[in-house]
Amino acid sequence: MSGTLAKIAEIEAEMARTQKNKATAHHLGLLKARLAKLRRELITPKGGGGGGPGEGFDVAKTGDARIGFVGFPSVGKSTLLSNLAGVYSEVAAYEFTTLTTVPGVIRYKGAKIQLLDLPGIIEGAKDGKGRGRQVIAVARTCNLILIVLDVLKPLGHKKIIENELEGFGIRLNSKPPNIGFKKKDKGGINLTATCPQSELDTETVKSILAEYKIHNADVTLRSDATADDLIDVVEGNRVYIPCIYVLNKIDQISIEELDIIYKVPHCVPISAHHRWNFDDLLEKIWDYLKLVRIYTKPKGQLPDYTSPVVLPYCKTTVEDFCMKIHKNLIKDFKYALVWGSSVKHNPQKVGKDHTLEDEDVIQIVKK
Ligand SMILES: *[C@@H]1O[C@H](CO)[C@@H](O)[C@H](O)[C@H]1NC(C)=O
Repeated sequence: MSGTLAKIAEIEAEMARTQKNKATAHHLGLLKARLAKLRRELITPKGGGGGGPGEGFDVAKTGDARIGFVGFPSVGKSTLLSNLAGVYSEVAAYEFTTLTTVPGVIRYKGAKIQLLDLPGIIEGAKDGKGRGRQVIAVARTCNLILIVLDVLKPLGHKKIIENELEGFGIRLNSKPPNIGFKKKDKGGINLTATCPQSELDTETVKSILAEYKIHNADVTLRSDATADDLIDVVEGNRVYIPCIYVLNKIDQISIEELDIIYKVPHCVPISAHHRWNFDDLLEKIWDYLKLVRIYTKPKGQLPDYTSPVVLPYCKTTVEDFCMKIHKNLIKDFKYALVWGSSVKHNPQKVGKDHTLEDEDVIQIVKK
């Protein structure tokens, strides 16, 4: 493993030395591709024999969403976790032995949200040790990442954590690059761009793809793409996760400093210790998770507003709803009656492909 780390350091040093200009663009692209490959090696164990990412534990998928907490030691991450869980938890936190993580489950707006400490993602991951790898595997399954920062510490810490997560294929607050990519058997590299490109030209694209031994492919750039964007598409295993920066310890700064801090995008200033601004934090968490609540209405009864069925925003059809309740429900499904913003009439008869919206009420009619 140390061999890989040495190679990574070497390439990073060379990239730092290389001036960024038109003449060096394709060489930098190639270095970036090499770096991406080495980083992948670092988190993917070689050969059989187990020890794969996530092996030895699978954090029970309790709840409707999972939030991972990342931060340097002593930024107040554990205080935040225990105070959040203490206030909002209905399920006791339990020791998670393999990970020494203590997940808690909170209930907010009727949704069960799992809070997961991701320990050592900074220290452990870097040395490529097994545990770091496992934590990364769990981090990649989170629906939201909270990066906890100490307002008294330099914001450089933010960059370090971001880089670390980026290095493991986690993309924060961004969308997959709009690049078409199709490998072929012959015909060379066929590059088309639907808009002007400031970084990528045929030469650069060719040298990046050559690093992956790809010599024939159609590449369509539909936005002003970077070398990193192209590498992400070729690597193909990126995860796109929303992220909130939690700036802790605001009880120790002035109002003027607080004003400046509020300008950091995607941030919520708090005091974990004094439980300040937890309402804002939870609202933002809710916004970023984009969960959809569906209330069930048994025939002849009022809707049950106390325990909604909670769906991720990208999977909200009536069928998704049925699957969440029970695998067999869809087999007996005849139609559904829906009240709420997804329909024109209240109620409206809909099929299993109908897309539900937040706070809709549904009644399933069986065959
Ligand atoms: C080049 O790629 C474009 C977009 O994918 C495709 O429409 C076109 O047919 C390709 N040209 C060649 C010569 O393969």
